[in-house]
Amino acid sequence: MAQYKTQVGIVGAGPAGLMLSHLLRLKGIHSIVLEAKSRLYCEERVRAGVLEYTSVKMLQDAGVGERLNREGLRHEGIELGLNGVRHRIPFVDLTGKCVTVYGQQEVVKDLIARRLADGGDLRFECGEISVEAFTTNRPRIFVRREGSTDEIHCDYIAGCDGFHGICRNACPEGALTIYERTYPFAWLGILAEAAPSREELVYMLHQRGFALYSMRSPRVTRLYLQCAPDESIEQWSDDRIWHELQTRLHCSDGWRPAEGRILQKSVTGMRSFVVEPLQFGRLFLAGDAAHIVPPTGAKGMNLAFADVHYLAEALGVRFGGGGTGYLERYSETCLSRIWKVQRFSWWMTTLLHRFENEAAFDHKRQIAELEYVMSSRAAATSLAENYVGLPLD
Ligand code: FAD
Ligand code: PHB
Repeated sequence: MAQYKTQVGIVGAGPAGLMLSHLLRLKGIHSIVLEAKSRLYCEERVRAGVLEYTSVKMLQDAGVGERLNREGLRHEGIELGLNGVRHRIPFVDLTGKCVTVYGQQEVVKDLIARRLADGGDLRFECGEISVEAFTTNRPRIFVRREGSTDEIHCDYIAGCDGFHGICRNACPEGALTIYERTYPFAWLGILAEAAPSREELVYMLHQRGFALYSMRSPRVTRLYLQCAPDESIEQWSDDRIWHELQTRLHCSDGWRPAEGRILQKSVTGMRSFVVEPLQFGRLFLAGDAAHIVPPTGAKGMNLAFADVHYLAEALGVRFGGGGTGYLERYSETCLSRIWKVQRFSWWMTTLLHRFENEAAFDHKRQIAELEYVMSSRAAATSLAENYVGLPLD
């Protein structure tokens, strides 16, 4: 059995694990990142696309914002639509802040490149991973592959292994409380080879369901359709997808999304999920391992960054000789933000989706709420300040 030693063993090389490893390195703290999948898989997985101003600032301050500054698309607002009529929510005017469209896989590529350039220890294609003894002061991670086992001795373990990872479930039953809500719909998402035909994202509530117009670059658009939770992607030919998108997004001023070759399509379920606390002994959960939000508020990756910001700060204090007080408050600190983001993501989701068998009263109330957001500066400001990102305190 090969033996290794590190200060922080990080499970998962998604945005949370990679960013944590980089932030720790800036504080002179050693980490090893253990990832089940290949580097290519991590770099090509198409997921989130909107960075809050706080996430952009974090990447810039950490010295990994160079390509983001060059290639990220600065968005100063979004448009909300109701049955073909759009209304702009001007973020900069309402909050003084904006968001940046830059694909999650680009963030992942930048972080991997930087960690490797800095001599970071990133291990891809790890076989079976287990985390053990984290209630003692000698936690260990075991990596078993092709008949050999690596044992990694850590001071602390960070579970950044996403919703389906092993870290959360390694905690004894009853130690964690789960708060959860599933939604009776999913999103069918496509990536299309088409130049964006609008400058900003369009969130549309249509009689036939929600649709979102987004983008990745000056040549690639990203679009989503509300669909059934068990929707089979085989039922959706490219023609059917475009037809449904055109129907839901077409606007009374004549705007419609430009079409192009569909490069990728997938169906993603929607849930809200929080585990409490985020710490068990010397195991700390961060990102999707600890919480999931429905994507309507574009918050998943941003919340993962907020967690690892707090975790890196707390570990910095601990290894700097300042004690474990911040680490002990890690869960409480994160949860205060997590629940605000959960509320916002739930609110955006219920505001913009059609619910099957919905009472006529609820649909009327939903339309009134959307019209209120579109007509009141106070209501629009509330949306805007949550969308651009609450400040990190
Ligand atoms: P992840 O990105 O999930 O990274 C976890 C890493 O851990 C992965 O690389 C995984 O391979 C690895 N791992 C898992 N298990 C193990 C193990 N046992 N051992 C070692 N490694 C392991 N958010 C948005 O804001 N907008 C979107 O459009 C959007 N679309 C999404 C689409 C899908 C299909 C999914 C699943 C999520 C989407 N999200 C979206 C959410 C967003 O992508 C996540 O919130 C973000 O990826 C969280 O980062 P993370 O690092 O915590 O987790
Ligand atoms: C995306 O571009 O993938 C995207 C944008 C906004 C969202 C969700 C996803 O709310």
